[in-house]
Amino acid sequence: MSDTALYQPGILQGVPRVARYVQFTLAGDQQPAHAIKEALTRVSPLINGTDVVIGLAPALVRALGGDIPGLHEFPATFSGRVKVPSTPGQLWCWVRGDDLGDLLHVTRQLQKALAPVFGLRHVVDAFRHRHDEGTGFGRDLTGFEDGTENPKGEEAIAAAFAHGQGGALDGASFVAVQQWVHDLDAFEQMPEDDQNQCIGRRLSDNEEIEDAPESAHVKRTAQESFDPEAFVLRRSMPWLASTQAGLMFVAFGCSFDAFEAQMRRMAGLDDGIVDDVFKLSKPVTGAYFWCPPMRNGQLDLRRLGFD
Ligand code: HEM
Repeated sequence: MSDTALYQPGILQGVPRVARYVQFTLAGDQQPAHAIKEALTRVSPLINGTDVVIGLAPALVRALGGDIPGLHEFPATFSGRVKVPSTPGQLWCWVRGDDLGDLLHVTRQLQKALAPVFGLRHVVDAFRHRHDEGTGFGRDLTGFEDGTENPKGEEAIAAAFAHGQGGALDGASFVAVQQWVHDLDAFEQMPEDDQNQCIGRRLSDNEEIEDAPESAHVKRTAQESFDPEAFVLRRSMPWLASTQAGLMFVAFGCSFDAFEAQMRRMAGLDDGIVDDVFKLSKPVTGAYFWCPPMRNGQLDLRRLGFD
């Protein structure tokens, strides 16, 4: 990846072997904009967009006096037929690598650079599961391959990053982050055919099931079936903590529109049909962040009033 890339390169690269999703919040609500700016200036050298991808929530952009068109909080309105919580955050870091021990040390460096203005709020450790070097895809903890229908190459860039806007906005990405907790007991109790019908693909060979029900996950989310088409770049990873486990769903977009169209349909808001994925998992968080563009290998925060 050249230094001239306008986007944080880690977004486009595949999912790493291990990762930590680290959220920071402002310590107290009285932090002046200049203190926040200084903390972000201190942490910037630690963020190359590859080993650490960063995202700022609408509240933080507001606190800095910034204005990013299209940036807003995760809607509370998906809930109704099923619970889809909106749990706004402030600063999100996707810390990526090969060795979880190393990621602990990176997390500590971020924490120190951001203190005392920001405090650590939440960390989720994630990993690749049954990753196939040949296809480049890993699996969800249910055993289904995840990422198959992700756009590739130029299409991935077009789906994931803002373009044609100017004003230090191009190359930025709008990310939706949702922690899902699996009910693996419920999943294991289903006959394999029912498991396949829930997703709309076969566990055994990942083939799409043409006559899967309308509630099947890949029928709900088929990106080409929306008008306009709703492509996102998914970079989800399995996570576990003690006996709980699931999927950290992460979707990067040139706006939040595609994610919102998919989530609405999954939640049954369009036609009353809820996605079968809710039979085996449930979301417990939901937040939106703006991942700033890069300039000369560094975060480009000019849009937030930085030089
Ligand atoms: C527990 C949560 C979830 C699980 C286990 C899950 C799993 C899967 C699996 C196994 C596939 C098929 C392979 C692939 O193309 O990647 C898939 C496809 C997909 N999922 Fe999910 N998913 C989850 C949540 C979500 C959410 C919340 C969204 C968006 C709101 C979403 C959007 C998509 C899209 C866009 C596709 C590709 C559809 C297509 O164009 O064929 N998924 N997911």
